[in-house]
Amino acid sequence: MKRKGIILAGGTGSRLWPITIGVSKQLLPIYDKPMIYYPLSVLMLSGIREIAIITTPEDQPQFQKLMGCGRQWGLELTYIVQPEPKGLAQAYLLTREYLAGAPSAMVLGDNIFFGHGLPELLAAADSKSSGGTVFAHHVNDPERYGVIDFDTSGNVTEIVEKPKEAPSNYAVTGLYFLDGRAPEFATEVAPSARGEFEITDLLERYRVEESLSVVHLGRGFAWLDTGTPGSLLDAGNFVRTMTERQGLQVGSPDEIAFRLGWINEDRLHQQADAFKKSTYGQHLRSILD
Ligand code: DAU
Repeated sequence: MKRKGIILAGGTGSRLWPITIGVSKQLLPIYDKPMIYYPLSVLMLSGIREIAIITTPEDQPQFQKLMGCGRQWGLELTYIVQPEPKGLAQAYLLTREYLAGAPSAMVLGDNIFFGHGLPELLAAADSKSSGGTVFAHHVNDPERYGVIDFDTSGNVTEIVEKPKEAPSNYAVTGLYFLDGRAPEFATEVAPSARGEFEITDLLERYRVEESLSVVHLGRGFAWLDTGTPGSLLDAGNFVRTMTERQGLQVGSPDEIAFRLGWINEDRLHQQADAFKKSTYGQHLRSILD
């Protein structure tokens, strides 16, 4: 079965209040594009065209206004509501019918990945037919994330959510390739002490049966945080630097769809024309030229 995508774009965004009281966090700008374009691009680079977007009930219309049914990118987008933010693993309960047994790739709507060789890593994760793959990245402040513990031979011995004392500096990033059993395993996850269905508990289910691969995103990769006003600004500046210095777009669904042959030149023309007053539209035009 073909892998389906999930973007988890709900939550309260309370660490960014008052910015996110009137608008969803995942719609905030990261330089020249809405935040959700970046995780969407990661799923597209994985070759995934059927994607469910999970949002809060009140924010769903704005996401639909922005991306519609996805036809402009050769995608099929489905919108699913999360009535209350009860944790990342709940995404698999909400998408159980949508996935209908298919394997999935879930990305958090506020995670930004950048690095040479990313499409190859994604393709390898996609080609694994059973079990799961997660991506680990070395960070300074592992206590803020899901953290991986290794034994001396490098085997993963545990994945813990926001430990007081982190067993390593390797955080689990917000991108999870899991097989078709994820929704069933998610029903076995009990709420944690903070009342959430933790993704790390679901990953532990795979780790225990030794079917979880951990791929290291090395030094050449940037995994950007958008959780605080400072990191949001840094992420925007990073994208700006990359875009202006290289003259190349980071996280453009239009460009990816075109390069993958999911849309033709006419379609890209239409998009470039529609956005011609913005630098984003001008970049699309430059691809055609
Ligand atoms: O960013 C990677 C980290 O993401 C992982 O290392 C952690 O294991 C994982 O739990 C998660 O930690 P965060 O503290 O960043 O999770 P947060 O509650 O901020 O939620 C992440 C995103 O998912 C955020 O954009 C909001 C959205 N979300 C969150 C929850 C709890 C939902 O859409 N629904 C939810 O129920």
